[in-house]
Amino acid sequence: MTQYAILANPGHNRIYFSYALCIAQQELTAVLGARGVEPQYTQASCEGLPPAVYFQTPEPLCEDALQAVRTCSFFYALFEVHEGGLLRPADVPEFHTFPEDLCHILRYTGKTNEQFTRLMVNLACSACKTPAATKKLLDPMCGKGTTLYEGMVRGMDVIGIEHNAQWVQETQTFLVRYLKEGRFKHQLTRERRSAPGGKKLAEFIQLQTAARKEDYLAKQYQSVSLAHADTRSTAQLLRRNSCDLLACDLPYGVQHASRQGAQGAQLSRSPLELLLEALPGWFDVLKARAAAVLSFNVFTLSWQEAAQALEQNGFQVLSQSPYTGYQHRVDQAINRDLIVAVKPAG
Ligand SMILES: C[S@@+](CC[C@H](N)C(=O)[O-])C[C@H]1O[C@@H](n2cnc3c(N)ncnc32)[C@H](O)[C@@H]1O
Repeated sequence: MTQYAILANPGHNRIYFSYALCIAQQELTAVLGARGVEPQYTQASCEGLPPAVYFQTPEPLCEDALQAVRTCSFFYALFEVHEGGLLRPADVPEFHTFPEDLCHILRYTGKTNEQFTRLMVNLACSACKTPAATKKLLDPMCGKGTTLYEGMVRGMDVIGIEHNAQWVQETQTFLVRYLKEGRFKHQLTRERRSAPGGKKLAEFIQLQTAARKEDYLAKQYQSVSLAHADTRSTAQLLRRNSCDLLACDLPYGVQHASRQGAQGAQLSRSPLELLLEALPGWFDVLKARAAAVLSFNVFTLSWQEAAQALEQNGFQVLSQSPYTGYQHRVDQAINRDLIVAVKPAG
């Protein structure tokens, strides 16, 4: 047996962090499980070490598994634990294409915690069984882009849909400035999409970029698409069976009331109606064996309601460990949970 300790990232959001250690084991089990490794958790602790997750594996972790450990949302450093509690820092391979700061620079009210976003993307990656080497990640209500930045640093192609025009504009401004200041080569195009009758559906911003100049010159692009549109038009905006992963922090009712009704004037605290209207389109654009992870406030939507909505629309909900048990308190008004589902094969 090889014993390990992952030092947990103290994180930026202390409220989330107090729960992170409880859910870290679930995340690690999912991430390693997708690579055929089953970690066993030990009660071990090392004197003087800050909070850590202790586990053992029958064989030492291979490069690919070590790199996967590094993607865990709580990861700070990995140690091998030797006789007498001696710690040996493990050499863990990098996974970034774009630098990590891309996820952290933009700060605003309503931003989904970056660590939590990474957790959602990890669960989606673990549950996804599409064969694509480069995954396409969709956030169909992307706010100012936290999920998109997470996908970018991991080398994915990303697509965001957001109906708040100002947020779309600010996301675009931030991204272009980031790429310019970091001297990342990129090309920006715009496109207006209309429905058959001519009614405007979306304004699309497309970026082709690459973290390394050599990749850009070899046309090995990462693509970033951002649509100013209503997520209920997803099926009309994107190609069918084109996305591998979907991760979305649903509107919270308090900060992000979902707009409903013919005039778009009513404010609703529950995202359920919107979810029911959007899910058929989301299902359509996902590939077979793709995975979707949704997070929500349990005060406005229960896990069971979300599960029912997903299953009603053809998804298969993953209702067992390590895809359950993520509920945690964010603040007085928000108790957050997530749900993981896959689009069945065939
Ligand atoms: C919880 S926020 C997502 C925050 C995002 N993850 C971030 O970190 O910036 C939910 C988002 O859903 C958007 N939204 C609500 N209804 C929508 C709709 N019908 N179509 C597209 N976006 C919508 C809101 O404007 C809000 O930005």
